Amino acid sequence: MDSLQPVRGTADLLPEDKARHNYVVSVAQDVARRSGFQDMATPVFEFTQVFSRPLGASSDVVVKETYSFEDRGGTGLTLRPEGTASAMRAVISNGLTQSLPLRWFYAGPMFRYERPQKGRMRQFHQIGCELIGPTSSLADAEIISVGAAILSELNVLPHTKLHLNSLGDQKSRLTYRQALIDYLTRYRSSLSEDSQRRLDSNPLRILDSKSEADQAILTEAPRLPSYLSNEAKAHFDQVSACLDKAAIEFVLDPLLVRGLDYYSHTAFEFITSALGAQGTVLGGGRYDGLSETLGGPPLPAVGFAAGIERLALLGDDHAAAVPDIGFIAADIDAETEAFGLAVSLRQAGLCCVMLMNGNMGKKMRAASRLGCASVVIAGSDELRRGAVSVRSMADGEQFEVGISKLTTWLSERLSEPS
Ligand code: HAM
Repeated sequence: MDSLQPVRGTADLLPEDKARHNYVVSVAQDVARRSGFQDMATPVFEFTQVFSRPLGASSDVVVKETYSFEDRGGTGLTLRPEGTASAMRAVISNGLTQSLPLRWFYAGPMFRYERPQKGRMRQFHQIGCELIGPTSSLADAEIISVGAAILSELNVLPHTKLHLNSLGDQKSRLTYRQALIDYLTRYRSSLSEDSQRRLDSNPLRILDSKSEADQAILTEAPRLPSYLSNEAKAHFDQVSACLDKAAIEFVLDPLLVRGLDYYSHTAFEFITSALGAQGTVLGGGRYDGLSETLGGPPLPAVGFAAGIERLALLGDDHAAAVPDIGFIAADIDAETEAFGLAVSLRQAGLCCVMLMNGNMGKKMRAASRLGCASVVIAGSDELRRGAVSVRSMADGEQFEVGISKLTTWLSERLSEPS
């Protein structure tokens, strides 16, 4: 263990990275707010049962990826691997089941013990939207349209393709599950090791196997859409019709099953080829049965989440904020007064940093490296006259400005177009 390195699969968000994250969150929050979604947050850890049943006892996330531990009181806790089960837990524990529909937006860290690679972390961050209450297929289409709008405003949509499938209702899925087991059992010994295991525990997950041998076997496998009940088909047809109406392009993908077990009816993913193996940027679907697996009443719901790291990798660059003003004391006797003046500029709303190290040349270079538009230089002689010098970094022009007018002078100067 090298305790000076961050834990494998975690990363520091240095200012440039954090600026991109903040941008992604603020755009997503703004799009979500315009669609009536309210910002909320759940704790980063929950009782282990909040995730173990809803996400599926045989799902990879629960079997291999959760960070679960006992706290000092012996309570079994899990760092949240995703936000949907927590959101539903919050609906139930806050007594909100009579206050539907709820439209919730969240952003925050999630934790999965996965093999780290580009775009795949052990601590990563998601933005997500959950629409809890409506059974209508309009809700599925609304959720997809909000996801598409977020990707569009982040300029990520053109890099993605929307894959859409229906997992049907429970009855359709059970019939299909049996047909798939019957078909795949004939090829059991040729399936990959993972798929052989899944054939008994979670056969639908075999559909999105990455193994070439599995994919070859799957070409002739029965397809889920032909097993949909009339109701499930009608639900899905309306989702597709709404997306057509909203000019949201999609491809039907009968092999799309998603990695968490709580989905029914609509399942969707916005997939990119620009991030190597980690192609899913934003994914979600309907999860009508989740509430009951938590011990709550039946609560229809649909939602999505997207990885902020993946959105930041695909979206436009966003520079970290830079201070407008660098403040320099030209000599040691001027330092204390310069400090007071710098604080008063900040109190007036200006963004100002005090440059503290080295001689004048070094401080000027630091101001330039930071990207300050102006530098205030306060020397003892000038201060005695009630003035300071202000240098414009763009053209090197320098002015003497009276201290009483400094805030106004700088504010006007900074608001001029450059
Ligand atoms: P998910 O597909 O597991 O769904 O994750 C959603 C998104 O989170 C992925 O598409 C990906 O962008 C990002 N993501 C997942 N794992 C990692 C990782 N290890 N490193 C970086 N990014 C990652 C859910 O989490 C569901 N709760 C979505 C949902 C909401 N369904 C209904 N409502």
